[in-house]
Amino acid sequence: MSLLETKSLTKYFGDTHAVDHVDFSVAQGELLALIGSNGAGKTTLVNLISGLLRPDSGTILFQGADVTVMSVHDRIRAGIARSFQLVTVFDQLDMLDNVCLAIFARDGKTRRLLSLANSDHAVSEEALGVLREFGKANLLAGGLAQGERKLLDVAIAYALRPKLLFLDEPTSGVSTREKAPIMDIITSIVRSGKITAVIIEHDMDVVFRYSDRIVVMHEGAILAEGTPDEIRRNEQVTTTLLGTRLEAHEHARA
Ligand SMILES: Nc1ncnc2c1ncn2[C@@H]1O[C@H](COP(=O)(O)OP(=O)(O)OP(=O)(O)O)[C@@H](O)[C@H]1O
Ligand SMILES: [Mg+2]
Repeated sequence: MSLLETKSLTKYFGDTHAVDHVDFSVAQGELLALIGSNGAGKTTLVNLISGLLRPDSGTILFQGADVTVMSVHDRIRAGIARSFQLVTVFDQLDMLDNVCLAIFARDGKTRRLLSLANSDHAVSEEALGVLREFGKANLLAGGLAQGERKLLDVAIAYALRPKLLFLDEPTSGVSTREKAPIMDIITSIVRSGKITAVIIEHDMDVVFRYSDRIVVMHEGAILAEGTPDEIRRNEQVTTTLLGTRLEAHEHARA
């Protein structure tokens, strides 16, 4: 049985068919790469699965149970977590709580909140354990290089103890050299059997090197899926996806 399965999942934004009758499934224990050109519908699909968006139609099954209309909170509790392409707000909190936190931070009061967490021995021990699993010492987040920030982002999502973790572009904006350590840690956590992971990724070197299986989206639909070898050999994929990538490369170089 699949860990997660969507059936004919659909979300339109006006005339844009962002996710169009998508049957998407994730098997227990795999590291799946979700790829596709800009605007293909990848983030929207993950938003639907994590509960940030409601689908127009279709269903989402997690461990066989229908979670299509479940709240974000309940999905996290059930074991679905995610990191974000752009980290700006705490999505598990409502708007008022987000603004309150900002005011708290502005007035330098977050220390009080954190001293509460730190004095809770179980919480700080668990947090230290997560950092240890990520091979990280405790440093001030503000001074971190981009690669380390991205890793912290993954660690935060991982700390929710998900069964299924979605990572939206975990290596974007990171130098090629910094990508390997991020992917190595994600891979080792998946291989240890602790989580199943879906990464949205534009870097084809990363995708082909690290994923067990690849799902290719194009204009809101699934264009192809298969092993890295199968996808590499798929002409439809290379012309639609790798073709546009190559063009982008040529443009960038021109
Ligand atoms: N909230 C929204 N309102 C209107 N249109 C949206 C919204 N979110 C996404 N879209 C549109 O839906 C389509 C799919 O967008 P989505 O962000 O899911 O693509 P993506 O595959 O994640 O792209 P990228 O690789 O650039 O992150 C795009 O045409 C986008 O402009
Ligand atoms: Mg996206």
